[in-house]
Amino acid sequence: MNLLEVDNLQVNFKTPDGFVTAVNNLNFNLAQGETLGIVGESGSGKSQTAFALMGLLAKNGVIEGQARFEGQNILSLSDQQMNRIRSKEIAMIFQDPMTSLNPYMKVGKQLMEVLMLHKGMSKAEAFEASVQMLDAVKMPEARKRMNMYPHEFSGGMRQRVMIAMALLCQPKLLIADEPTTALDVTVQAQILTLLNELKKDFNTAIVMITHDLGVVAGLCDKVLVMYAGQTMEYGSTEDVFYQPTHPYTKGLLQAIPRLDTEGEILTTIPGNPPNLLNLPSGCPFHSRCEFAEERCIKEAPTLEEYQVGKLRACHKSVDWGMAS
Ligand SMILES: Nc1ncnc2c1ncn2[C@@H]1O[C@H](COP(=O)(O)OP(=O)(O)OP(=O)(O)O)[C@@H](O)[C@H]1O
Ligand SMILES: [Mg+2]
Repeated sequence: MNLLEVDNLQVNFKTPDGFVTAVNNLNFNLAQGETLGIVGESGSGKSQTAFALMGLLAKNGVIEGQARFEGQNILSLSDQQMNRIRSKEIAMIFQDPMTSLNPYMKVGKQLMEVLMLHKGMSKAEAFEASVQMLDAVKMPEARKRMNMYPHEFSGGMRQRVMIAMALLCQPKLLIADEPTTALDVTVQAQILTLLNELKKDFNTAIVMITHDLGVVAGLCDKVLVMYAGQTMEYGSTEDVFYQPTHPYTKGLLQAIPRLDTEGEILTTIPGNPPNLLNLPSGCPFHSRCEFAEERCIKEAPTLEEYQVGKLRACHKSVDWGMAS
């Protein structure tokens, strides 16, 4: 059975200029211990997908669809019910660690409070469990650092604290929103190795949100490629990497920095994502797509399962040579 099943998830924001559809008909599922990558450029709806699942959407947001976690639709829960699930069953690592760490409270106290609140631990128990978790995320001198404030940590260490905090209650699902973007490449690699280890140790299912397909390759079992709130391509990481079938995916792949081509200028996809208030006709990617035809301008392609477990939204035939 799947741990999480997302059905036709839609997030609309009411703005003074009209409705913005930030997430449009998203479908995916996740088994226990499995990792899904959600990739796409800035503004494609990745964070709003996460916020919708966590019940943390901005006030002007309206959700449609279902997200069943262990069979229960978490999108219809009250704040109180969702509070019980957050941290304990589903935890999130935010794009910016300082948004969820209190700058005025010692890191140890912040970790301990989670355990005392959600696990009913005593202060002493919570202290030891927090030190253990900091050790698990490879925090040097964990015991000593319990007494420090967030600003006394480096960026990479703060991210480790965030991961430790997210994993404290051993959630079944971890949603990580760009957990490595602000870090330099070496620290980024360390955090990814750490997440891979933690995934094995705790059998946590992970939704990894990133704009970096390199991160997906190192961590994820499957990947959902998002553009303008919609799914462009969805399948196993291996398929999407080695046989991308969507021109947008191909563009993202060409933008991955590669160690063997150091110094070479990266290709980025020309143009910008569309304004969500004024989406173009047809395929939302058509104005940037080098393969666009008349039909792509007029008619939006539907997301189709062209092989078991492989989905794409594109008018081009699957085998027209995307792999080249
Ligand atoms: N409260 C809001 N009201 C109106 N529009 C919003 C609101 N919050 C987000 N949006 C819009 O929703 C779209 C998707 O935003 P989202 O934060 O999910 O992007 P993202 O894919 O996470 O991008 P990034 O990679 O930059 O983090 C954006 O166009 C954003 O402007
Ligand atoms: Mg985001």
